[in-house]
Amino acid sequence: MRTTLLWALVPTLAAAAACGYPKGGAVPPPVTGEAASVAAKKWPDATEASLGEGRALFASKCNACHEHPDVNAVAAAKWPEIVKEMGEKAKLDAKQSELVLRFVLAAQSSR
Ligand code: HEC
Repeated sequence: MRTTLLWALVPTLAAAAACGYPKGGAVPPPVTGEAASVAAKKWPDATEASLGEGRALFASKCNACHEHPDVNAVAAAKWPEIVKEMGEKAKLDAKQSELVLRFVLAAQSSR
C-alpha cells in the first residue's frame, strides 16, 4: 500500500524537478555605454542609474534562496514571467521587479 503511494508521487516529483533552481552565475557588471543606450531604446525611461538600481536589487535579493542566476542561462522570452514570480518571492514591489527585469535583459544583450 505504502509503495503504491510512493509510485503515485513520482510524476509530481519529476514535474517539480523540471522547473528547478537556476544555474548559478556571477552578478553581471553594471550596464553602461552601448548596452545602456540599447536598453533606453526599448524602455525610454531606462538610464544607467535605473539599470544600476536593478543591478543592486538583483545583487542583494536574488541569492537569498539559490545562487545568483546566470542571466544567460534563461531565454530572454522567459525572463518576464520568472522575474514576476521571483519578485514576489523576494518581496519586491512591481517597480522594483521591473528594474530587475530590465537589468537582467540589458545585461544579457551586452554579453
Ligand atoms: C524566497 C526564495 C527565493 C528568492 C528570494 C528568489 N528565488 Fe528564484 N527560485 C526560488 C525557488 C524555490 C526556485 C525553484 C522553482 C520555482 O519555484 O520556480 C527558483 C527558481 C529560479 C529560477 C529558475 C526558474 C526556471 O523556471 O528555470 C530563476 C531564473 C530564478 N529563480 C531567478 C530569481 C531572481 C532573478 C530572483 C530575484 C528577483 C530570485 N530568483 C529570488 C526561490 C527564490
